[in-house]
Amino acid sequence: MEINSETQLLGVIGHPVEHSLSPVMHNSVFEKLNLNCVYLALDVEKEKLGTTIDACKALNFIGLNVTIPHKISVIKFLNKVGREAELIGAVNTVKFEKGRAFGFNTDGIGCVKALKGDGIRIKNKCVLILGAGGAARAIAFQCILEGADVSISNRTMEKVVELKDEIGLKLKKEVNVLNFNLKKHDLEGIDVIINATSIGMHPKTNSTPLDAGLLNQDIAVMDIVYNPIETKLLKDAGKIGCKAVNGVGMLVHQGAESLRIWLGIKAPIEIMKKAVIGKIPD
Ligand SMILES: NC(=O)c1ccc[n+]([C@@H]2O[C@H](COP(=O)([O-])OP(=O)(O)OC[C@H]3O[C@@H](n4cnc5c(N)ncnc54)[C@H](OP(=O)(O)O)[C@@H]3O)[C@@H](O)[C@H]2O)c1
Repeated sequence: MEINSETQLLGVIGHPVEHSLSPVMHNSVFEKLNLNCVYLALDVEKEKLGTTIDACKALNFIGLNVTIPHKISVIKFLNKVGREAELIGAVNTVKFEKGRAFGFNTDGIGCVKALKGDGIRIKNKCVLILGAGGAARAIAFQCILEGADVSISNRTMEKVVELKDEIGLKLKKEVNVLNFNLKKHDLEGIDVIINATSIGMHPKTNSTPLDAGLLNQDIAVMDIVYNPIETKLLKDAGKIGCKAVNGVGMLVHQGAESLRIWLGIKAPIEIMKKAVIGKIPD
């Protein structure tokens, strides 16, 4: 890929960003599609967030991804945010156009598309989300927008109650709140479980958010943790005969949605998956 004066700039802003898989994922697309674009990892401290957005406007950046800890605080520096981002209250994608900055959130849609990609539909299904952090919030709103009945269970109960109230207010939908210490009867009628906590993530790969004894083969299990690719939760689910979906699909689909927003292209999902998987240690 030749970098020249015509090369268009994109990147991810966060702090830290050195472990981000987004550069390898997006640059694999530009190489495959022969696009004169480059995607950078930009370490931005919170005091420099506003000036970074201004600098990206001045340098004619096409777009940015936004990661921890800037997903919420970036909003005040944007000219407008899309519906999902406004509902969720967080932005993971910024598009620059004519000196203006527009915010979007592709995490929720990325999760739902990853499920669909593995043949799991959630319309009129009962979905249990584990977690109430940034990713869980995006997934909860999107699942409801897609027509699912949603239950949420989180270690810190106040955060789920807050999320339930917010969903009730914004979408006029009821969410079922469950204690984090789940029991067999809590899972009755549940079709899909999505782990959106960081439990099971490297280096604590022996941890799981759910006792395997609670699962049965009629439940599909997704873990959005992608390092390791097969978490303990997914291993347990696989042994029981559940359909098991890893976090790489969500990562790639949220990235593909960002590419659609920035460049209007249909992203090559399999190329992106391969690029990402190649960077995750065994
Ligand atoms: N595949 C993808 O595309 C994708 C996208 C985004 C995030 N992720 C992954 O999703 C995970 C969550 O990310 P996030 O941005 O939502 O993080 P976050 O906002 O920090 O939320 C973390 C969540 O995990 C829970 N948690 C953490 N440690 C716990 C423990 N020891 N016991 C019980 N609960 C625990 C937290 O519960 P409390 O509220 O009680 O603290 C909270 O619900 C991370 O592993 C991240 O890498 C994947």
